[in-house]
Amino acid sequence: MKVYITYRIPEAGLKKLEGKCDVSLNEEDELLSKGELSDRVTDADALICLLGDRIDRDIINAGRKLRVISNFAVGYNNIDVDYATRQGIMVTNTPGVLTDTTADLTWALIMAVARRTVEGDSFMRSGKFSGWKPELMLGSDIHGSTLGIIGFGRIGQAVARRASGFNMQVLYCSSKPVSREAALASRATYVELDTLLSRSDFVTLHVPLTDSTYHLIDENKLFLMKPTACLINTSRGPVVDERALVKSLHERKIAGAALDVYENEPALSPGLTELSNVVLTPHVGSATHQTRNRMSEMVAENVVAVLSGENPPNLVNKELLRQKPAQA
Ligand code: GLV
Repeated sequence: MKVYITYRIPEAGLKKLEGKCDVSLNEEDELLSKGELSDRVTDADALICLLGDRIDRDIINAGRKLRVISNFAVGYNNIDVDYATRQGIMVTNTPGVLTDTTADLTWALIMAVARRTVEGDSFMRSGKFSGWKPELMLGSDIHGSTLGIIGFGRIGQAVARRASGFNMQVLYCSSKPVSREAALASRATYVELDTLLSRSDFVTLHVPLTDSTYHLIDENKLFLMKPTACLINTSRGPVVDERALVKSLHERKIAGAALDVYENEPALSPGLTELSNVVLTPHVGSATHQTRNRMSEMVAENVVAVLSGENPPNLVNKELLRQKPAQA
């Protein structure tokens, strides 16, 4: 069985495929173009791909033998899942394992933007520090402030749990309120989106990218935020209208932003890098040795399961679950 991997993944996953499948891999340090991807998938039974690979109808049609598309990510907005399902191709992802790692990075960004640590670091390196001053590089308190979490799945709830150490009030909104137990465990209160935006000091995004979350945070929504508030995004770039965000930061309609994801990754909207009130990281929410190794194992486990005729542990298109034969 042939497996094609669109970009080098940690060794842990490759080991799991060894001896079980015939693996080919893009060895270049760049993502494949659509044409290259389409050529390389033609004789593959399984495809392991990254969130930057667009797996649209053309690629799915080119992969005539494909049985599984195994995404090295929890989000799968890069894949036309409906079309894959209609072709009977299983789509898998890597949920759970990156929840805490991504929540940790969200907190790194909250702290960086609130306390201006990145600006402080550049300030020191450029030799500008001439001694302690009462009003040097003032930031905002995190403790005692209000955290607004948009999207309250696994990652949103993990972000909320970390807020209790900072004695924060936690608000959340999501398509529907979570169970009483989940809300109690994270000490979070459900509110409507506009209320959350107008009351929070830190607004953090944890929704998947879908038609209904595209540009969820646009100019009007940014306008509802406090002028002292900061926006944090570790979900997907297109959830925010990035041009509107640059404008709002430039005009100081909001105080700051910390972004790990971008609307047109890897490109950035004009003006974003010139702003001092924004912290930018290169889509590294799940980027720890432990988590990336585990994700690598998971993409391999999903492939091996499907190619052995079993249900993969992390099937996205559950319609394709194979029924176990009834016991005699
Ligand atoms: C990363 O962004 C992921 O979806 O895993």
